[in-house]
Amino acid sequence: MKLLITGGAGFIGSEFTKLAVKSGFGVVVVDKLTYAGDLERLKEVDGKFVFYKSDITNREFLEHIFKSEKPDIVVHFAAESHVDRSILDATPFIDTNIKGTQTLLDIAKDIKIELFINIATDEVYGELGKNGQFSETSPLNPNSPYSVSKASADMLGRAYHRTFELPVITLRPSNNYGPWQYPEKLIPVVILKALNNEKIPVYGKGENIREWLYVSDCAEAILMTIKKGKSGEIYNIGSGFEKRNIDVVKTILKILDKPESLISFVKDRPGHDFRYSLNTEKIQKEIGWKAKTTFEEGIEKSVKWYLDNLDWVNRKLKHLRNYWKSVYGEGK
Ligand code: NAD
Ligand code: DAU
Repeated sequence: MKLLITGGAGFIGSEFTKLAVKSGFGVVVVDKLTYAGDLERLKEVDGKFVFYKSDITNREFLEHIFKSEKPDIVVHFAAESHVDRSILDATPFIDTNIKGTQTLLDIAKDIKIELFINIATDEVYGELGKNGQFSETSPLNPNSPYSVSKASADMLGRAYHRTFELPVITLRPSNNYGPWQYPEKLIPVVILKALNNEKIPVYGKGENIREWLYVSDCAEAILMTIKKGKSGEIYNIGSGFEKRNIDVVKTILKILDKPESLISFVKDRPGHDFRYSLNTEKIQKEIGWKAKTTFEEGIEKSVKWYLDNLDWVNRKLKHLRNYWKSVYGEGK
């Protein structure tokens, strides 16, 4: 079986690529290597997969790749993935997440692919209050330019299943964290800023809630869905570990033995979703998957990974400083 993995040099895509290679699949990675992509994430499987640097909106080059590689299955991760960046500029989100997904679906349809795994997100459902959960039948109600672009890609996949009988499975994971995450997302931002004794920007009052899923658990869920999932179905992938942002920040500060005085409450993210929470009965019952890593274990492992890999993170810092300035404002 040969997998064509888009976005395989990204955070979750690389974790999945390593698992797929180690599980004996033939692997072709297609990645544009944007600021978020880095082949260093794949160094432990170097030489064991084929790599193409390509934009997923480049139909001609993609057709050439599909024709020469003849993959059986597409696992589609490639996306602009950060909510704050979609607020600064939505254009690349529309291009990559919507037009790129449509391009891939068209090619997959034309070559009659065996299976198309469309990686969506829990953010397509919109936000919850303090109570309740989203199940796979909950209506979509996305709120940010990012989540709207992901909901569009999610719906396009399901439309290609319904209209053209393309075998599509839609996966909606919750917030991932762990090694190799680009330090624009909450957990690596906090680790990095705390290590440098810099102010830690917490949006609003830090009361928003996310469901934290360790990245290797997510990769395992995706692999198991390839083996056991049913075409046309949607599966939520969540851990059950819900935390307020402020509690995530305090946990990291405690592990690093840093003072809570580093916390700085900053202007809230515009349109900030309050809470996400997934009902995962379907994936547990039909696929037999359940998250293995508790938040306490996962966060300890993540902090340790960043401490052990400061070289990698420091190489990202120059680009990050400019970005941090634009998202958090001057002097933060
Ligand atoms: P990421 O930003 O770390 O990686 C995205 C990858 O896609 C990068 O390697 C980048 O180079 C590549 N890419 C971007 N635009 C491209 C283009 N036009 N053509 C080809 N490649 C391109 O993202 P991630 O956090 O690993 O997320 C992967 C997928 O999972 C995304 O679809 C995201 O929406 C989804 N998701 C992420 C999370 C999370 O918490 N990180 C949770 C749920 C779903
Ligand atoms: O829920 C799944 C989604 O999780 C994925 O689809 C997205 O690709 C991924 O980026 C993530 O989105 P979030 O917006 O939830 O993640 P982020 O790490 O950006 O923020 C997590 C929470 O922390 C959110 O409530 C905003 C808050 N936050 C974030 C940053 C970067 C802060 O308070 N301060 C910060 O500096």
